[in-house]
Amino acid sequence: MKLLVCGGAGFIGSNFVRLRLRDHGDEVVVLDKLTYAGRRENLEGLDVELVHGAIEDPEAVAKAVEGADALVNFAAETHVDRSIAEPDAFVRTHALGTYVLLEAARAAGARYLQVSTDEVYGSIAEGSFTEASPVAPSSPYSATKAGADLLVASYVHTFGLPAVICRGSNNYGPFQYPEKLIPLMVLNALHGDPLPVYGDGMQVRNWLYVEDFGRAIGHVLEHGVPGEVYNVGGPDECANMEVVRRILELTGAGEELIEHVPDRPGHDRRYSLSSDKVRALGWEPQVHFAEGLGRTVDWYREHRDWWEPIRSGDYRAYYERQYGRRLA
Ligand code: NAD
Ligand code: TYD
Repeated sequence: MKLLVCGGAGFIGSNFVRLRLRDHGDEVVVLDKLTYAGRRENLEGLDVELVHGAIEDPEAVAKAVEGADALVNFAAETHVDRSIAEPDAFVRTHALGTYVLLEAARAAGARYLQVSTDEVYGSIAEGSFTEASPVAPSSPYSATKAGADLLVASYVHTFGLPAVICRGSNNYGPFQYPEKLIPLMVLNALHGDPLPVYGDGMQVRNWLYVEDFGRAIGHVLEHGVPGEVYNVGGPDECANMEVVRRILELTGAGEELIEHVPDRPGHDRRYSLSSDKVRALGWEPQVHFAEGLGRTVDWYREHRDWWEPIRSGDYRAYYERQYGRRLA
């Protein structure tokens, strides 16, 4: 299959590309704006064409989509804290960018898969969200992602575009930018920096190993019913404090590094997805949290060359703004 993968230089996109080349022999073009989170080195050694461009740029998109059978859209601004501090890029990329991609898929007669998130449903105290649950997003990140999902649905309904939506739960694994909980805590623990836990740390996330999500996206692209939404949740839920304790154990760092810091405004307490529908389509997660977290910590330990330039670059200024303190 010939794929245009938008946002393929980021965390999940690059893992997806690696998996599709390895297991399916796809031909892949990546279109990526190469923001702070999009990195050429994430695609190093892979036989792909990387087009540097934005999804909201119709010319760049029209060129990149030529000959593609399907378009998979990972391109997004993805960090909730940044969406609270500076929401504009979230609106532009998710609303305008998704619109440009939908038009391009229509013109090219290509299938379309929108990569979305459990955060569009908002927080749930008990039980799990199904695809029939209403969207009730909380942050500028999740609200603009929900808006993009609605736009995709409108292109199915109005223009008959063969599009599907995959809503994933919190991903973790290799190549994740260290602004997100797991890689941030792993690198801080390895450096002896404090581990900043928001509020009481009892917020719960439904952890999904990145390769499991990549396999689900490929499976839905091949077997999903156009117009449908598929939730893809990880096999385990875990409170943040427990995640942090496990990271301390795996890195050999001490509990004294844990530091409770002011809570995120509008912080969602719990995410949980029912994945019955995608399971019925033939997908199962393969990696439990305990195993995946161990693999992830090992990967960060062994790939200083990947994260050292990040941790010593602009990231330091971001960290200082966000946490009001400097990294060691
Ligand atoms: P990421 O931040 O690591 O990567 C995003 C990529 O998109 C980067 O390569 C960036 O350069 C690119 N990009 C950003 N704006 C762009 C634009 N306007 N045009 C072209 N490229 C642009 O994010 P990720 O964690 O890999 O997330 C990928 C997708 O999966 C996102 O749509 C996100 O909403 C969704 N998702 C993420 C998670 C998670 O836990 N990380 C869970 C569920 C769904
Ligand atoms: P994050 O990785 O930002 O993902 P999301 O908010 O999209 O689920 O955060 C995961 C959880 O970890 C969330 O409850 C917020 C919390 N968190 C902290 O406690 N400290 C931190 O420094 C970060 C980045 C997140």
